[in-house]
Amino acid sequence: MSSLKIINANIFTPLGREAARGEEMSRIKHIPEACVICEDGTITYAGPMADAPRCEADKTIDARGAAVIPGFVDSHTHLVFGGYRAEEFDWRLKGDSYMSIMERGGGIQSTVNATRTECAADLADKARWFLDRMTEMGVTTVEAKSGYGLETATEMKMLDVIDSLAADPDARIRVVPTFLGAHAVPKEYKGRTGEYVDLMIREMIPAAKGKAEFFDIFTEKGVFEIDESRRLLQAAKDAGFRLKLHADEMVTLGGAELAAEMGAVSADHLLHVSDEGVRAMAEKNVVATLLPLTAFALREPYAPARKFIDAGAPVALATDLNPGSCFSGSIPLTVALACIYMKMSPEEALTALTLNGAAAVGLAAETGTIEAGKSADIAILHFDSYKFLTYYVGMNCVDTVISRGKIVKEPLKA
Ligand code: NIG
Ligand code: FE
Repeated sequence: MSSLKIINANIFTPLGREAARGEEMSRIKHIPEACVICEDGTITYAGPMADAPRCEADKTIDARGAAVIPGFVDSHTHLVFGGYRAEEFDWRLKGDSYMSIMERGGGIQSTVNATRTECAADLADKARWFLDRMTEMGVTTVEAKSGYGLETATEMKMLDVIDSLAADPDARIRVVPTFLGAHAVPKEYKGRTGEYVDLMIREMIPAAKGKAEFFDIFTEKGVFEIDESRRLLQAAKDAGFRLKLHADEMVTLGGAELAAEMGAVSADHLLHVSDEGVRAMAEKNVVATLLPLTAFALREPYAPARKFIDAGAPVALATDLNPGSCFSGSIPLTVALACIYMKMSPEEALTALTLNGAAAVGLAAETGTIEAGKSADIAILHFDSYKFLTYYVGMNCVDTVISRGKIVKEPLKA
């Protein structure tokens, strides 16, 4: 049995075991002079020091003067990939569009070529480097997608890599696997999208079962359009997957409405969502996972966060770390863009990156808040309020990170 105690804590946390919607997203519980007790990776007490059970812990952290918040959940990443695409970024700076690069065989297909030839051990090593960067920023749970194989063997190789990262006994971050075989139509099937959809239904979805909890798809004009997406999502649902969509990212296509129709857990991106799509998602409680770094890096308009929140939908924020549209993964910059350009409040941003991120990966009962019974996933800031997450613009102010009860990042010595 291992135990950890945080004393003199200034806790700021959303509360609950399901996504916060609409104005609930602004409710941040503040417990000053608090104590958090963690036993065997689980929070057993979070409340005023005066009421805390008396116990000796193996390790005690004095958090005087620091804000104590839930660890972040990055609920949308493409963490595992071969190669890089630095030249594409230059092309885009000079005016090329993301979709035009993809249409001429670059983009996702270029990462697919590299991922098919790279061995599992190299892919895993590379992903671990990015996981370390995430720990630095206070991320304790991350979702990781396949999607750079687009053939059964490589998709399974990617899912096995993700599984090895999740199962690593030294892992500092919980990893949630998502199968994204429907990320693009591979070059071998160019012009034969229907046949690739058939292959996915016949071979890839059954093979991915048991290796991933979520099924995701790039529902986009010229990639998988609405009818093809519906067919794939239905097959995945029938096979027992929970659903996610890359929806309305480049054009308004009705991806948000489809997410609501199919009972998806989340629809992500949504830069060009229609008002009807916003309403449909709010009504069906589909988490709107907004990815401001992607809009920023693509020079696209930001997703309408306020419309979602005002309609009563749950909003999550995530990074979309990937080698193409958004080679970043910065939590501080995500918060900055969300609050400065998408008009989210610091309270909403905190909820979106913790409790609602957890809900987007089906883990709201396990993590995302500081409450007894939840996993001990906690970040301690250098400053005494969560407001510094926005005020210290684009900068990392996380000093200490606790993941599943273990200290995985400690402050640098002054
Ligand atoms: O979320 N749009 C599709 N998928 C990713 C980009 C993947 C890539 O460019 O490699 C996204 O933006
Ligand atoms: Fe993505």
